[in-house]
Amino acid sequence: MKKLKVAVVGATGAVGEVMLAVLAERRFPATEVVALASERSAGNEVAFGDDELLVQDLAGFDPAGVDIALFSAGGSVSKEYAPRFAAAGAVVIDNSSAFRQDPDVPLVVAEVNPQALRQRPRGIIANPNCSTMQMMVALAPLHRAAGIERINVSTYQSVSGTGRRALEELGRQTAGLLNFHSAEPEVYPVQIAFNVIPHGGDFLDNGYTTEEMKLVWETRRILGDESIAVNATVVRVPVFYGHSEAVWIQTREPLGAARARELLRAAPGVEVVDEPVPGGYPTPVTHASGRDPVYVGRIREDLSQARALNLWIVADNIRKGAALNAVQLAELVAAEA
Ligand code: A2P
Repeated sequence: MKKLKVAVVGATGAVGEVMLAVLAERRFPATEVVALASERSAGNEVAFGDDELLVQDLAGFDPAGVDIALFSAGGSVSKEYAPRFAAAGAVVIDNSSAFRQDPDVPLVVAEVNPQALRQRPRGIIANPNCSTMQMMVALAPLHRAAGIERINVSTYQSVSGTGRRALEELGRQTAGLLNFHSAEPEVYPVQIAFNVIPHGGDFLDNGYTTEEMKLVWETRRILGDESIAVNATVVRVPVFYGHSEAVWIQTREPLGAARARELLRAAPGVEVVDEPVPGGYPTPVTHASGRDPVYVGRIREDLSQARALNLWIVADNIRKGAALNAVQLAELVAAEA
């Protein structure tokens, strides 16, 4: 692989810091790594393996010479700066939702549709939403084998997906409530500690939220099948790291739990943890947090419907759900050079 200059935009954020950690862990072939954030944190340092990088202000940074830029600083930053980095010659891998519906921007899960990233007329590749990401890693092998017709998913999403301020809010509210103080919601509309919130993103006219509709739109794009019916409910839970999903699928061809388990054991990026005993299933804390795989358990046939299965899918939303996939895409781009 050619040695490349890499920029991480949003390097001080919950995803950006893990992008840097994953680049270092996987020994990404970089000649130079640049950490960028807003002027608020310019001059601070962030960890890159055993080294520290000085954070630079994105607004004053000249992107000339950057080969690959990983963006995770929110949609408005991506909309403004990703095209500028691409115009300067960088391949942008964007973790925001800014370009995910753009037909000229491929939406890619490394294990599922890596071939799609070769067609990128805008020089931008979109990283899928974290909830869609882990669902795709687990469902793509089942879709290839039996054709998924319909998906019903309820998510149990950790607060890290909302960003650093949400991690702080859960910690602050939890400690406060245990010390008989009241919980003041700032990031979420209601208390998140010791609670669950059936809301992620913004409400749309159809009654669903943007986080729910991302599961619909992105699933169809990634699996390349507009006929797949997806029904989603997004719920935020008081977990720091790791999203869980209760997923029901109906397939065109019969599949069965045993065959699904077999397919998933052989699938890249998946680890099956499925023993019908207490603790014989993955959870964010016991399995996913800080780890790379997408864990699948509780695989069982729906007793009330033909060709239908239930699965429990858990992954670290910051790693596979964001930073790890972005770095895997960067590796695929680096391998082209
Ligand atoms: P900063 O630390 O300077 O605010 P999170 O999702 O965890 O909240 O992180 C968001 C990331 O995006 C942070 O690194 C943040 O940097 C960065 N960011 C937010 N707004 C801007 C901006 N206008 N320009 C550059 N970086 C930004």
